[in-house]
Amino acid sequence: MGVREKPIGVLDSGVGGLTVVNEILDIMPREKVIYYGDTLHLPYGPRLLDEVKNFVFNISDFLINKKNVKALVLACNTATSAAMEDVEQKYSVPVFGTIESVTEKAYTLSNSKRIGIIGTEGTVNSQAYQRSLLQKDAEIKIFSAACPKFVEIVEQGIFSGPMVEKMAHKYLDGIREADVDVLILGCTHFPYLRAPIKKVMGKNTKLISSGQAMAREIKKVLDQNNILIPDQKKRNVFAREFMVSDRNSISRDFLDKGRKFLDFPSLKFKEKNIFTKRNKVHLQKGE
Ligand code: DGL
Repeated sequence: MGVREKPIGVLDSGVGGLTVVNEILDIMPREKVIYYGDTLHLPYGPRLLDEVKNFVFNISDFLINKKNVKALVLACNTATSAAMEDVEQKYSVPVFGTIESVTEKAYTLSNSKRIGIIGTEGTVNSQAYQRSLLQKDAEIKIFSAACPKFVEIVEQGIFSGPMVEKMAHKYLDGIREADVDVLILGCTHFPYLRAPIKKVMGKNTKLISSGQAMAREIKKVLDQNNILIPDQKKRNVFAREFMVSDRNSISRDFLDKGRKFLDFPSLKFKEKNIFTKRNKVHLQKGE
């Protein structure tokens, strides 16, 4: 098999990265995608960044060495905040993270230079978004909030309703009152909650997420490296493989609602636990 025919490897802690896969397949429908959701260790958000980095290396080794992927996509903001630079250094395939593509877009779209960021505790506390924005322009005013429960409800397949709106008010009212004109959805789980988030933020705030900007960047780089499958006309529906480290964590409600939301009617997960016992013991000690 030539490099071009190899799959793109995508990873996340759970089902959030599927929002990125959706955008990838939208503009590169003939690419093969192998997805790995680390549901055994979900959520990544509250964990130490070193621990998340360790998980990301395990999954990346698996995707690159066993699944022979031609590119690696960290479709998780927490993983990108924790491991992007080290992963880029370790592997020779192109590596894509969530942060750079989205801050560039946020900066371009903001007129007031007042930008909101929401994500997991790991992402928000890592300051990775804040650093990236301030490097573009030191005058940007940033207002951030960690929204950990958003990840939980998405995994449960709850995307709307009064409980979600109440939660959205609790997390977002402060950012709305700060008058931001752009809000970065800095977690790949959050696009599932776009409607209730929009309702709280109002029509004057633009919501942006990583998926679309990442997909464009991936297409550009694969093309520059001559490893993009040509003739991207329609979805190659058989060329996808979705794996998780613990299938029991995938809720029936997520499968029902997620399939419609993502437009993957036949979405199914295989279980593949790539984490060794030795690795688990080591991680417990590090906690
Ligand atoms: N989807 C992930 C992100 O973008 C993380 C969710 C979690 O595991 O806490 O950060």
